[in-house]
Amino acid sequence: MRGVAVYPGSFDPITKGHTAILHSGLVAFEKIIVAVLNNESKQPLFSVAERMEMIAEAAEEMGVEPGRVEIDSFDGLLVNYARSRGARVILRGLRAVADFEYELQMANMNRHLTPEIETVFIMADDAYFYVASTLVKEVARLGGDVAELVPASVQPRLLAKFDK
Ligand code: PNS
Repeated sequence: MRGVAVYPGSFDPITKGHTAILHSGLVAFEKIIVAVLNNESKQPLFSVAERMEMIAEAAEEMGVEPGRVEIDSFDGLLVNYARSRGARVILRGLRAVADFEYELQMANMNRHLTPEIETVFIMADDAYFYVASTLVKEVARLGGDVAELVPASVQPRLLAKFDK
């Protein structure tokens, strides 16, 4: 267990799929910086501040040891952000086959840009293999129950967004 990894994403919102990756990542890395992409062109449901708050609440719920998870936001190129934070590893979760091509493209592009930074993948927990923020938002918007798919503090925030 050594080194710092950056775990980047939209996290709009964080799901239990993400927290499972974070949990596994902490077995491999001393510290993980969860980095929320600040990209308004993606038209997120939650602001960056809200997304960071939900990640902090989820980390607390997980009982993460102090100092082992940091929550930050970034814009611009991920590799530049990782380098600025002294991280040599980008951590990503892999779910169903649909993720593979996109992740391979990103990993190769990031390696082309910055060969000294490696992307490390962790296989998603099979319980959350099909959990994606986009689907969780759709189900919550249509009145479905997402309680088992998101950290405890996320569900009320989703319901509030959709006036449920
Ligand atoms: O949770 P997501 O939306 O799948 O995360 C995608 C993310 C944030 C990892 C990706 O969009 C990203 O790294 N964006 C920053 C811009 C960048 O570096 N682009 C080139 C990477 S190929």
